[in-house]
Amino acid sequence: MNNGYGIDLGTGNLKIYSLASGEVTNEKNTIAIINKNEMYAYGDAAYSMYEKAPETISVSFPIINGVIADFDNMQSMLLEVLDNKVGARLKGADIVLAVPTDITEVEKKAFYDMFAKTKIKARSINLCEKPLADALGLGLDVTEPTGVMVVDIGADTTEISVISLGGLVLSELLPYGGNKLDESIVTYMKRKFNLLIGMKTAKSLKEGIGSAFSESNESMTIVGRDVVSGLPIEMEIGSKIVYEGMKDDLKNICTSIKMLLEKVPPELAKDIVKSGIYLTGGGSKVKDFADYITNLTNIKVNVAENGEETVVRGLGRVLNDDKYRRFGYSMKSRIFS
Ligand SMILES: Nc1ncnc2c1ncn2[C@@H]1O[C@H](COP(=O)(O)OP(=O)(O)OP(=O)(O)O)[C@@H](O)[C@H]1O
Ligand SMILES: [Mg+2]
Repeated sequence: MNNGYGIDLGTGNLKIYSLASGEVTNEKNTIAIINKNEMYAYGDAAYSMYEKAPETISVSFPIINGVIADFDNMQSMLLEVLDNKVGARLKGADIVLAVPTDITEVEKKAFYDMFAKTKIKARSINLCEKPLADALGLGLDVTEPTGVMVVDIGADTTEISVISLGGLVLSELLPYGGNKLDESIVTYMKRKFNLLIGMKTAKSLKEGIGSAFSESNESMTIVGRDVVSGLPIEMEIGSKIVYEGMKDDLKNICTSIKMLLEKVPPELAKDIVKSGIYLTGGGSKVKDFADYITNLTNIKVNVAENGEETVVRGLGRVLNDDKYRRFGYSMKSRIFS
């Protein structure tokens, strides 16, 4: 009975929850292709080739801005990870996949087809709105008549949603997240120091010493290429510099939160002010970001303990708690057949 899998196809990471073990498997959602369409590597192994591969190998990301951009490769990778890393038995399994709310029905159908268009005889294939899964993964009871605001900052999306009585009142999917911060750090380093760095180095600066507090005082040594001499050089970078690179993006995210808050009906806004905004997704780990948002909105911010996993943990609750089972819906009953 406990053969079930919760699946979150993130732009950056693929997360799978297994009901039998209670464990989460997290792999980079990356594929490496050779000979135009042959899968050479996937997951963490493919990501390690990113920015390092020769021209014959192309490294790409099958999910773009929260939607499936490369159906065939996403499906192959997903089935490989389920088979080899999770040890899944899909026959007779209950499967629930998270989907962003603010996308089209056709885009949602592609998530459903990940399993519907295989020979696998799963017992059920359901979809669940990602913000609801997030809230459940945060340990909230979303069936109450209480307004809850969830902000999920992922790799390539930021989803801002307001939930009440088990349904979505408002939801907006922004086409940027943690990756945009990395890109902005790369651009800033080039402009300020004539230093070319890779996206991976920018990511490690952000995760290591990045902060939304302008006075943060940490440092990290990195290697980049000097644009003028063309040679690689080592340089010590302080967190203030990383802040300068990220600050416009952090402000944009915060402005979007404020704009959505302005649309919230007053009784629900009252609840949000009381309980605070819930911040999750890997991007919620940017140091001091919660305080930054509080400063600009005057609302308390609660940060998830492990933001990357709240969606799949929530899907786990949809699979194993009768109270939340109805949050998983079949695509068949909505459109198409
Ligand atoms: N300590 C950290 N500080 C800052 N950012 C972090 C930290 N740890 C992870 N991140 C960022 O979190 C992002 C990945 O988060 P997550 O796994 O929630 O995204 P995703 O679900 O794959 O993407 P999406 O939800 O947009 O489809 C990456 O951009 C990563 O750099
Ligand atoms: Mg995500």
